[in-house]
Order: sequence, then C-alpha cells, then structure tokens
Amino acid sequence: MPKSARRKQIEGMVLYPLDWLEERSGIVGGTRYFLFRKFPADSGWAHTLGSATLTAFLVQAVTGVILAMYYKPDPDNAYSSIQHITNDVTFGWLVRGMHRWGASVFIILLFFHMARVFLYGAYKYPRELNWIVGVILLILGMFEGFTGYLLPYDETAYWATVVGMNITANGPFVGGILGQILQGGPAIGSDTLARFYSLHMLVAPGAIFALIGLHLYLVIRLGVSSPPWSKEAAGAEHIEPEPPAPARAGLVSPTTRGRPQP
Ligand code: HEM
Repeated sequence: MPKSARRKQIEGMVLYPLDWLEERSGIVGGTRYFLFRKFPADSGWAHTLGSATLTAFLVQAVTGVILAMYYKPDPDNAYSSIQHITNDVTFGWLVRGMHRWGASVFIILLFFHMARVFLYGAYKYPRELNWIVGVILLILGMFEGFTGYLLPYDETAYWATVVGMNITANGPFVGGILGQILQGGPAIGSDTLARFYSLHMLVAPGAIFALIGLHLYLVIRLGVSSPPWSKEAAGAEHIEPEPPAPARAGLVSPTTRGRPQP
C-alpha cells in the first residue's frame, strides 16, 4: 500500500532526531545490539537475579538521594533529623523505610545472584573477570551496609560501629591503618560520622555505579551463559543432536491436490 504524504511526513519527524543521534553517537545501533543480542533459550527465573539486584541498587540510590536532602551528618542533629524525616516530612516514613529495608533486600539479592552464578558454573572461562568485578561489588555493597548503619547515630548504631571498627582494626596487615582511617580520630565521633556519610553517599555508590557499568559491559560482550544442563552449554557439543521429527508426507513429496499418491 503506498504511503500517504502525511504518513511520510510523520515518519520523517520521528526518524530525523534518531538519525541525527545515530550519526553522531551510534546509540541507536548500540541499543538495537543490546536489545536483540543472543540470549540462552533455556534461561529461567534464576537468570533474573542480576537485574533484580540492579533494581534494588537503583531503589537505594533514588531513596538515598531524597534522604540526603533532609539528613544532617553531625552527632547533635543526626538522630533528630532522622526523626524529622520519619514523622514530619511527607512520605518520609516511606522513603526511609524503603531505604532501610531495601538495604537488606539488596544484600540478599546480591548473595542469591552470586549463588546462581556459582551453581551454574557461570564464573568459568571466559567470565572470570566478571566474577572478580562481582566480588568487588559484593565488598562495596557490604561496606555500604556498614557505613549506613552508623548514620542514625542512636545507641544501636554507635555500638554496632564500635564492634565493626574493632573487627577492622584487628584485621591482619592493613587492619590497624584501615581502622584509623575509617575512625578519623581517637574515638568514634563527629569526624567518624562525617567520614562515614561521605563514604556512604559519595565514594561507595560512585564506585558501585562504575563497576556495575563494567559488569554489564562484560555481560553484553561475553553473552549470558546457558544453564549447565542445557544442550547449548559450553562443553556440551559432544551431546548427539536429537533426530528431527518425521516430516509429513505431503511436505516431503508434494503432489497436486486430487491426484493419487505415487
Ligand atoms: C551490584 C551488584 C550486582 C549487579 C547489579 C549485577 C548484575 C548482573 C546482571 C544484570 C547480570 C546478567 C544477568 C544475570 O546473569 O543475572 C549479571 C551476570 C553476572 N554476574 Fe552479576 N551483578 C552484581 C553482583 C555480582 C556478584 C557479587 C558476582 C559474583 C561474585 C557477580 C558475578 C556475575 C557473573 C560471573 C555474571 C555472568 C553470568 C552469566 O553469564 O551467566 N555479580 N550480573
């Protein structure tokens, strides 16, 4: 059917900015490559755990930005600012609740995703580097939990940090210096809180964002691995392919309708 002049005009209006972008950045081709890349046909729910972890991290990032608009990182005001968020700010209780519970969800999903990768053997060649990037993400994720726990600056937060700091400072080789750097003074106080806040909302999330970028780049570059029981899994080439289903006679030796079969 010939296209009407109006339709051509609308198509031109839509395609012009896309062509403009594509010519200068290659982003349209890149998006097409990302969306239509090969993916194992026998993937299942377990393959969604990485994306679930990513979603949990993004929820933490968004709710964290909102909390940072009201939180005050000094020992005299930290607890009361959190009380203010919970009791006075519109939907503050929800945003704080999402961030607090979301932290546990993020860590649990992180471990589930890692368990899936381990049990499927998806860390093996050529994905070892992505496993290493994942381990750094895991460490940074737990570091987020540790630094965030101090921020309400109540009794639980304070004493949990004392315990965590003692564990750190007693670590081998670098433990002592790491403890000193983290604490920022002879005792846990205002400098520690400011330090933890900076690490919690700037340094660690920035590093996590960058590493997730690298992680996903490697996932796209190497492709997602098939489950170990899959016929497509690496190393399964020796498995005999199933014989094709017998074809209908009419398909193999077609005859004109109504004529007797030879
Ligand atoms: C913030 C944390 C993380 C995010 C957002 C994340 C995200 C993802 C996503 C979206 C995928 C592709 C889909 C899938 O296999 O689920 C993936 C694959 C992978 N991840 Fe993670 N991941 C994280 C942490 C980890 C950790 C802690 C490890 C291991 C120590 C890890 C190791 C891997 C490996 C080896 C693959 C490739 C799996 C395959 O090709 O089948 N990741 N990740």
